[in-house]
Amino acid sequence: MNYPLTGYHHITACAGPAQDDVNFFTQVVGLRMAKQTVLMDGKIPVYHLYYSNANLEPGSVMTTFPYPKKPGRRGSGQVHATAFSVSKGSLPFWKEHFKRHGIEQEPQAERFGQSFIRFHHPAGLSCEVIEVADDKRVAWTTPEISKDAAVHGFHGAVLSVREVAETERFFNDALGFRKSGVDGAYHRFETGTGGANKTITLLHEPDRPAGSWTFGSGTVHHIALWGADDAALAQQKEIYEELGYTDASEIKDRFYFHSMYCRCPGGILVESCCNVPGGFEKDEAANELGTKMHLPPWWEHHKEEIMSQLEPITVPETATAH
Ligand SMILES: [Fe+2]
Repeated sequence: MNYPLTGYHHITACAGPAQDDVNFFTQVVGLRMAKQTVLMDGKIPVYHLYYSNANLEPGSVMTTFPYPKKPGRRGSGQVHATAFSVSKGSLPFWKEHFKRHGIEQEPQAERFGQSFIRFHHPAGLSCEVIEVADDKRVAWTTPEISKDAAVHGFHGAVLSVREVAETERFFNDALGFRKSGVDGAYHRFETGTGGANKTITLLHEPDRPAGSWTFGSGTVHHIALWGADDAALAQQKEIYEELGYTDASEIKDRFYFHSMYCRCPGGILVESCCNVPGGFEKDEAANELGTKMHLPPWWEHHKEEIMSQLEPITVPETATAH
């Protein structure tokens, strides 16, 4: 069977103060600012900030809801860490880079023979840079982070689960990921050609209390996998329903893409999303991406009211087209 979703599109986390988040993802991780907009659910205005590699590729898009008013609780049933793919031999640079920025980091470690450093966002989110040979995706560079070290995109998410079996069944049967190894408490699943952007890792933590599912700073809200078009999304919804995952959501218009959500048995929310014509360039030119705030057209007439409730942010010039 050919499955319609072929890798990641984005990973979405709740940060703390917006400016801290902008500084972290553009200057520490070194992504470009791809879009400034707002969360489309609920009534309280919350930023939705998008960061990506040089080409805004699916599988490189980190997004955040700065949510400083309410902390989330980290735990199982949640994304444990977001791993970014970097070139082989670059970890010594990253170690020094994190040190220069006063970023909390853990000693270099390995899983499945790949070296990584885990480091922490100011709101407590865990991120990793993991060495991948030959990731051809074009990284965004900054004055501090050159081509040979910069982030190509996601390697994948590490999901904390109290039990492996039913989440394994979900990724196997509903999404077409095959199990490709166990390394201690880590269980690895890959789709298609495997490797960067095509890997989900479960971290088996049987005794870890459940983390929160609500919006709350310091927690990842969901992962999003990518299909080419609306037909892919419809096919994925059919697969979920055929298997009995009846709680797949309706397909939602997220303006820059279409989305559908289903929570996996381990508790992590898994979005399926697909391109729409124009994508991120629907409301701003390629050379202006990320420079200004944009609201979906149906909220434009509330712009002043929305903006008055959001803290102003400054995006470093090095994070937009130059
Ligand atoms: Fe999403």
